[in-house]
Amino acid sequence: MTFDTALTRKLGIRIPVVQGGLQWVAYAELAAAVSNSGGLGIINALTQPNAEALRQEIKKTRLLTKNPFGVNLTLLPALNPPDYPAFTRIIIEEGIKIVETAGNSPGPVIKKLKEAGIIVIHKATTIRHAKAAIKLGVDILSIDGFECAGHVGESDIASLILNSRARQELGNTPFIASGGFADGYGLMAALSLGAAGINMGTRFMCTVEAPIHPNVKQAIVNGDEHQTTLILRRWKNTSRMYSNQMTAKTIEIESTSKTGEFAEVAPVVSGVKGREVLVDGDIQHGVWYAGQVMGLIHDVPTCAELLARVEREAGEVLLNLTSSTGTSQPQPPMSKL
Ligand SMILES: Cc1cc2nc3c(=O)[nH]c(=O)nc-3n(C[C@H](O)[C@H](O)[C@H](O)COP(=O)(O)O)c2cc1C
Repeated sequence: MTFDTALTRKLGIRIPVVQGGLQWVAYAELAAAVSNSGGLGIINALTQPNAEALRQEIKKTRLLTKNPFGVNLTLLPALNPPDYPAFTRIIIEEGIKIVETAGNSPGPVIKKLKEAGIIVIHKATTIRHAKAAIKLGVDILSIDGFECAGHVGESDIASLILNSRARQELGNTPFIASGGFADGYGLMAALSLGAAGINMGTRFMCTVEAPIHPNVKQAIVNGDEHQTTLILRRWKNTSRMYSNQMTAKTIEIESTSKTGEFAEVAPVVSGVKGREVLVDGDIQHGVWYAGQVMGLIHDVPTCAELLARVEREAGEVLLNLTSSTGTSQPQPPMSKL
């Protein structure tokens, strides 16, 4: 099936599927595998210990793929924030063409990236934030519905409504639907709502090339749509995680703490422990991101198999739709989506 959407045209990719900027997962191997399979692979800047290490990861990705790929730069509040100016400088110096930004106060970073002529995709969980990002000059929005893994925001609007609101409100700025997507059926649903493509996070964790422990992939395969927990709402940093002993402990502290001090919960939600889960495979050891889309994930394919499947399923949907409306004919490219 030939796709021709604002996303495929702008990014120069064949299949309108972006791989989420997954912390501790989105290394060169995964990003290159996605890009080699026709989607947009993304490496995660903050998964690297410092900006120079990001430079090396970019170079490594270039050796593994000749196709377009991007870098995710996530701006989250932290006691000791990463050196964002240095990460931004390396991205520009290395000639990266596509950057996905996410998180708070992205204005200064987006300004620098745009001055360097980079295509900026910005993640938003509300239409208000999406519109603010358009004012900052971003090229594409990634609209993250409530189903998504990770930072869901505080307004709890799921992808079906959020993406239709994006279609109604964002004018000519293209958007990608994110949160809850795993296959060609979801892709076609997103295109129908007005999106130019989809972003998949949890689904790409569960691929052969995702450099994480097999136990984590198996936990996703075994899990279903009920197996996520929202934590940290009390601190307005609501995050969707795989349900385990540590999310249960977090919720207990969150609901019983008299002080409401984040320090009480910090050791339980430690990012270091979350990373250790992905490396060592003890799925109870820390909190780790996963989305409701787990219910749709039943195997661990290669990225090439996954994207070929997405393409095939999308073609089947189109054929079923056109044959059921009596207009079955050879299909033209999906243009103007
Ligand atoms: C393991 C993991 C790590 C993630 N890390 C980040 C991150 O560092 N920055 C970011 O913008 N999004 C991050 N996300 C969110 C994804 O990029 C994406 O928006 C989300 O997974 C989409 O929802 P889905 O899982 O239903 O596909 C992460 C998601 C997962 C599963």
